[in-house]
Amino acid sequence: MCGIVGFIGNEQAAPILLEGLSRLEYRGYDSAGVAICDGGAGTLSVRKAKGRLQVLSDLIHGGADLPGTVGVGHTRWATHGAPSDVNSHPQVSENGRVAVVHNGIIENYAELRSFLESKGVSFVSQTDTEVIAQLIEYFYTGDLLSAVDQALHRMEGAYALGIVCADAPDQIIAVRKDNPLILGWGKGCNFIASDVTAILKHTRDVSYMNDGDLAVLTREGIQCYDHLLRPIEKEVVHVDWEVDAAEKGGYEHFMFKEIMEQPEALRRCLSPRIKDGEIVFEGLSLTPDYLRSLRRIFIVACGSSYHVGVVGKYHLEKLTRIPVEVALGSEFRYMDPIVDDKTLVIVLSQSGETLDTMAALREAKRLGAHVLSIVNVVGSSIARDSDEVLYTWAGPEIAVATTKAYTTQLALLALLAVWFGKTLGTVDEADYQAALAGFRELPEKMEQVLSCRDGIQYFASKYFNHSSIFFIGRNLDYALGLEGSLKLKEISYIHSEAYASGELKHGTISLIEEGTLVMALGTCDRLFQKTVSNVVEVKARGADVLALTTERHQEEMAHNANGVMTIPDICDLLLPSLGVVPLQLFAYYVALMRGCDIDKPRNLAKSVTVE
Ligand code: M6R
Repeated sequence: MCGIVGFIGNEQAAPILLEGLSRLEYRGYDSAGVAICDGGAGTLSVRKAKGRLQVLSDLIHGGADLPGTVGVGHTRWATHGAPSDVNSHPQVSENGRVAVVHNGIIENYAELRSFLESKGVSFVSQTDTEVIAQLIEYFYTGDLLSAVDQALHRMEGAYALGIVCADAPDQIIAVRKDNPLILGWGKGCNFIASDVTAILKHTRDVSYMNDGDLAVLTREGIQCYDHLLRPIEKEVVHVDWEVDAAEKGGYEHFMFKEIMEQPEALRRCLSPRIKDGEIVFEGLSLTPDYLRSLRRIFIVACGSSYHVGVVGKYHLEKLTRIPVEVALGSEFRYMDPIVDDKTLVIVLSQSGETLDTMAALREAKRLGAHVLSIVNVVGSSIARDSDEVLYTWAGPEIAVATTKAYTTQLALLALLAVWFGKTLGTVDEADYQAALAGFRELPEKMEQVLSCRDGIQYFASKYFNHSSIFFIGRNLDYALGLEGSLKLKEISYIHSEAYASGELKHGTISLIEEGTLVMALGTCDRLFQKTVSNVVEVKARGADVLALTTERHQEEMAHNANGVMTIPDICDLLLPSLGVVPLQLFAYYVALMRGCDIDKPRNLAKSVTVE
């Protein structure tokens, strides 16, 4: 939620900020703005505009209008105050001296605003961020760092901040608490950013700020401080992501590019972990004794990552016989979870920054659990706060709708389940080898599915005008339906729901009428006949049924459904990994035909860093 970028150097800042913001637009895109310090002229210029970044860029002619080599920029996902020019960031203090860009929420902003108003300060926006700028101004007596520090002591909530001041035109102050912010080390220039993709063109040397850290950036260097304002040294990490990985590379949409990248992402994720016929998790400290001591496993995540968790529960319980509970990150800390030192908590997150998931992680640790996270973004908060981390190595995922991050999480969690089972002795050698064979052939079989995308495009052209779609399936197919349904609704805005097929008769079937589209998922061999029965039932009530099944059942399904999408046969464990691909493509083509903004769906942001 919200993207921040800051630059201090010798080049004109505004074009650099706009370019950086273009990489962060996935974090929020309802308005954008920049604040530029021009030391020579002694000015602080702020320009901002409601709408996509392009509106701002046009307004300032690609940045050319704003001289000055120091500045901060912001792309917003509105929390306090509707998207508008005045509510856009940067927010400035009343006399225009201090400008702030902010990602997060100031929980006591109303109280702080009343305090400042009682001192005669006037506000122009509805944002919580304006309070920060005004508070810093209130404490400012010539020392910006001290004013920021005093303001921070009064603020409650979550924030990543970039601050510039007309009186201190040769520095940027950066602050981080519960929202991501990184520091980029250049040559004669330095950066702040919400994530590394924004500055990758300029530097690959970054430092990750911890909660409570402050940093003062000058052209010459970056000085960091802890929450008591004691100077600290930060480790500099070299990032090896390719710039190209965050570019569209000739594709019309990031989502389509990322769908097509999945076989390669899976190879990157799986091959280093399967060596000489064995699963190898280097660096993982979980011993057989520890696994045997476990009374319960909790999987905690949000959105699509949660859907991976629902699949993972089936796998882990089947392969380890340890009870597994899956919880939404947003619910976990309010449900009084039964968690102790005999509980392993597996946290799933693409971004590694989802606030609810992060809060759940902290609660799990407080209760004594060991936390293992599966994360895509290296160095992210969840990765750093976990006891151990497995990276999915899917590469940067830019489209808001997740695809390659989902499939790599899914595969990695399945691999972990097999490894747990082998270690505990609940998976025998034959099943172990069969699973390994499945993992080895997964990328290639996924390529086969992708190569048949024309058929899926045809079905999308047939059904894109429907206003409501039901996904049904049992067991792994139910879990798959949850993700298929989310993909469709988030980018095409078609109402869609996923049901366990057996639940239909308990209420939902009353919604089935002539022409209702039902997506019947029947990839699990042992439940196939039951799915066929459900197909027959909904068809008898007028539904149009588009089915997904495996090659071995294709013919039988074709006799019952109106249309069939097929995936190659593969071991049960990996059926959802293949099965999700036609559903991703279906959602993509439907959204394309409906003229939707696929990479930036309305109201959404890629990284949800507010509660
Ligand atoms: O970064 P995370 O995996 O923690 O994000 C969780 C959800 O916000 C995310 O999976 C979301 O549901 C997807 N972008 C939907 O495609």
